[in-house]
Amino acid sequence: MNKQQAQERIKKLKKVINYHRYLYHVLEHQEISEGALDSLKHELYQLEQQFPELITPDSPTQRVGGEPLEGFEKVKRKSPMLSLEDVFGQKELEDWQNYLERLIPNQKFDYFAEMKIDGFAISLIYKNGVFWQGSTRGDGITGEDVTQNLKTIESIPLKLEIHGKLLSKDYDPPSASSHSSLRSEWAPIERNLKREIEIRGEVYMEKKDFEKFNQERKKRGEPAYANPRNLAAGSIRQLDPKLAASRPLKFLAYNIITDLGQTLHSQEHQVLPQMGFKTDPGKVCKDLDEIVDFWKDIIKKRERLPFQIDGIVINVDDNSLFQKLGKVGKSPRGARAFKFSPAQATTVVEDIKIQIGRTGAATPVAHLKPVEVGGVTITRATLHNEDEIKRLGVKIGDTVIIDRAGDVIPEVVKVMKDLRTGQEKEFKMPKACPVCGSQLIKAAKEAIWRCPSSECQAKQKRYFYHFISKGAFDIKGVGPRIIDQLIEENLVTDPADLFELKEGDLIPLERFAEKSAQNLVQALSKSKKIILARF
Ligand code: IVH
Repeated sequence: MNKQQAQERIKKLKKVINYHRYLYHVLEHQEISEGALDSLKHELYQLEQQFPELITPDSPTQRVGGEPLEGFEKVKRKSPMLSLEDVFGQKELEDWQNYLERLIPNQKFDYFAEMKIDGFAISLIYKNGVFWQGSTRGDGITGEDVTQNLKTIESIPLKLEIHGKLLSKDYDPPSASSHSSLRSEWAPIERNLKREIEIRGEVYMEKKDFEKFNQERKKRGEPAYANPRNLAAGSIRQLDPKLAASRPLKFLAYNIITDLGQTLHSQEHQVLPQMGFKTDPGKVCKDLDEIVDFWKDIIKKRERLPFQIDGIVINVDDNSLFQKLGKVGKSPRGARAFKFSPAQATTVVEDIKIQIGRTGAATPVAHLKPVEVGGVTITRATLHNEDEIKRLGVKIGDTVIIDRAGDVIPEVVKVMKDLRTGQEKEFKMPKACPVCGSQLIKAAKEAIWRCPSSECQAKQKRYFYHFISKGAFDIKGVGPRIIDQLIEENLVTDPADLFELKEGDLIPLERFAEKSAQNLVQALSKSKKIILARF
């Protein structure tokens, strides 16, 4: 994309993102999922990274939280509360590490990984060891004083005490995660406890309490809350502490802002439980593989956790390196949110091709710009038939929302018409079969066009069988059975389509799992280069 195209796209993205923010936050109405909206924000962020001169102060990427509410005392803080840039998938994690290594060459980075709890960010100030003031993030610098509401939360200690002393040396902090944290010699706090200390963390509501709360609301005919985060935020940002007290809120700490002599972020996680805070023990990771293992482990545990999480947070563990890396815009360079892939994402329809199925059915299939959704990359989505294309109004070049719930075949669920440039092309159902050239026919009242030739698919299959054979591309591990399956599932029309397939296209198919999909994509990639004679 050149700069002018980027500028156009950025302008449209901002408009669409602002529209959905307004719907969600002001009108409390949702037209697209959070995953899809995040996907648009992420595209905007990446374009702005590519063309930093196009960043404007009113860009949605430059926003931290919201304006403080009237009715609360304002709190000004020295060290702003920032937010985190997201990474989706391993590739973006690697890009981040490369970026850090460019900023500080010849430096080995250790990381600290911990759960990213889906709640509401809060800062707590203790004076003389006593809880003095608590505030919301607000615009980062100025927050709302919500001390009275926070005082109703039992998991926020009103007085800091060194509980660790009462516990044995081998004490492992109780938490949903079983990863043991790094043990170190740092035992600094007792003498520092009288200083002004700032702790940051997340107010949240457990899943079971959230369900119960919503059910009771519904019984009273009141609208349910969309998620525990909104409910936690709503309970804290209102003026009646009695109302806050009536809601089962909890607090989980993740940062000690005050310098108490700690040099590593992991030490903060060790000390927080000793000071009386619940925290995730997290894990020190020596490299990206260890981060990915931690991430996968948490995904497995996710369902069983009592609270909602939407990813993991990775910090450069060494606090002085973290400081040195500084921040860009609203977020620190030394930390990232490694999000779980949502079930929906946005991408661009690069082409629509007709696939002839076993019964001759001519199915239009969207060929997509590769996109990660539900944890895997996909390049194809079925459009079912001509009527479905009309219903969606999808054109070639459109930005669309893709849904992939669980291991099912990905679908186009919505077209983002506001992002059109005018260059999109209408798709016209061809009159003839793309494989054999026969006239397509459609029975009255049927939605599906068919190729009437009995030879057609057989011809297409024979062409494919030859293509994968030893004398031609010699694709290991791919035989007629897999080819038949790929054709029947509308994933390939032309042999060249094979090379575009990604794991996520294959996983929903019968007899495929993550590993076999990976093997196939690897085998295909190995066969891309062949000698001229075989070509
Ligand atoms: S570190 C620079 N650690 O996620 C912000 N944040 O956009 C430093 N969150 O505003 C935050 N769990 O509300 C951090 N373990 C965790 C977290 C966490 C949840 C929230 C926090 C922050 C947002 C990131």
